[in-house]
Amino acid sequence: MTRKQIIAGNWKLNKTASETRRFILTLKNRIAGMDALPELLICPPSVALETAVDAARKSGIAIGAQNVYWESSGAFTGEISTEMLESLGVSHALIGHSERRALFGESDADVNRKLLKVLSGTLIPVVCVGEALADREAGRTEEIVVRQVKNAFLGVAHEHARRIVLAYEPVWAIGTGLTATPDQANAVQGLIRRSVGAIFGGAVADELRILYGGSAGPNNAADLMAESDVDGVLVGGASLDADSFAEIIRAAA
Ligand code: PGA
Repeated sequence: MTRKQIIAGNWKLNKTASETRRFILTLKNRIAGMDALPELLICPPSVALETAVDAARKSGIAIGAQNVYWESSGAFTGEISTEMLESLGVSHALIGHSERRALFGESDADVNRKLLKVLSGTLIPVVCVGEALADREAGRTEEIVVRQVKNAFLGVAHEHARRIVLAYEPVWAIGTGLTATPDQANAVQGLIRRSVGAIFGGAVADELRILYGGSAGPNNAADLMAESDVDGVLVGGASLDADSFAEIIRAAA
């Protein structure tokens, strides 16, 4: 099974709308001559989404939100619905990033609610899972990650499962410069694929794209993506510079 790789940038709380436009126009130039491009996804802050969609038109670069809410409308100050995102031309949404979980109290149940809501519309969810350093040191990586995956997928219909993208992001590797080794990433990602297979069957597991995230960059992306169960990277810090992001894309192209 060959799965099309995805190179995704998660900008977190970085870049204004005009910086977003400039970045995307630059990136379009950088990738213009590349063959066999992987799927490309950029997740800017929500206030830059409309600009990003406009700047990325006809480039093949997909635009995603960093977060969504599970209600469509109502008294939920500060939240953004899937319908609002869809109406802007946004195609993807990150769900359950470890910063959402750790800093904003998002639980597995919240992640599940968000995933079910996204799947009821047209967005492609990128569900993030990963263990903290203490979990890894206590030998609990497998248990934590499998539980996050199972809880996220509760109640997901079989026909929707194919739309899901997963990202394995060990918390100790995010923003720290400490990358999981290709072996470490592949071991956990193989396990994730098997647990999805146990829920939805081998065919869905086989098609599932599982990205690695956590200090991924131009220096290590190719080695990570050479692994059998690593189908791309979700890049934070190294996605903020168009040249470095283009280099990662080149590693996959
Ligand atoms: P990083 O972030 O690449 O800066 O480690 C990755 C992420 O949080 O998605």
